[in-house]
Amino acid sequence: MDGNGRWASGRGLPRIVGHQQGVRAVRSVVKACGAMGVKTLTLFAFSSENKNRSTEEVSLLFKLFLTVLKQEVKKLNKHNVRLKIIGDLSLFPEDVQQTAIEAQAKLSDNQGLTLVIAANYGGQWDIVQATKQVVKAAINGHINPEDITIDSFQNYLSLAGEPAVDLLIRSSGELRISNFLLWDVAYSEMYFTDTLWPDFDEVELNKAIENFNHRDRRYGARKEY
Ligand code: IPE
Ligand code: MG
Repeated sequence: MDGNGRWASGRGLPRIVGHQQGVRAVRSVVKACGAMGVKTLTLFAFSSENKNRSTEEVSLLFKLFLTVLKQEVKKLNKHNVRLKIIGDLSLFPEDVQQTAIEAQAKLSDNQGLTLVIAANYGGQWDIVQATKQVVKAAINGHINPEDITIDSFQNYLSLAGEPAVDLLIRSSGELRISNFLLWDVAYSEMYFTDTLWPDFDEVELNKAIENFNHRDRRYGARKEY
């Protein structure tokens, strides 16, 4: 979800207003995904690198995250949304961590859309944290290094148990992954749009999905002519 700052500065507004508008875009995309039967939607809300921004912006983002979490839980529950927050939450203030735990617990039995929020997340961090778990299990004799496979390693990643990522969307014209899901996008289709995140809505989502529907996914296999 990129482009909040540019959306705001283009209007002569403070960056935080862009983030607030970005939350509106999140609401419409979550609602649309739920309605069309998407199984899992993962949103890159805050990257491992975002904490290098000004203390003011970072603390405003934490506050916004906390307020939105608190406000939306009821509505998410009504829409049968399951919530999963991935990333290194230890950096977050105590109240944010607590709210995150409570919100996930409250929504854990829901069977509709799984909404994954990546917060203080980095794709490289994810691979390292998975590796740490695997190494510990090997040291403790629970697994034999020779038995480690792609599928078994995957079980230690943050998106373990979720279906494969079909489509990755990046807004705001940047053509990078920026340390979002790395392992998980091995065979994902990529969709880049110039639309700034606060302007991203159901119409934009449908454009991305329409585009995805015309992709020829071969997973490295040879095409039969
Ligand atoms: C994305 O918008 C939101 C977060 C990273 C929290 P940016 O804040 O990166 O917006 P730009 O890239 O400055 O326009
Ligand atoms: Mg940005």
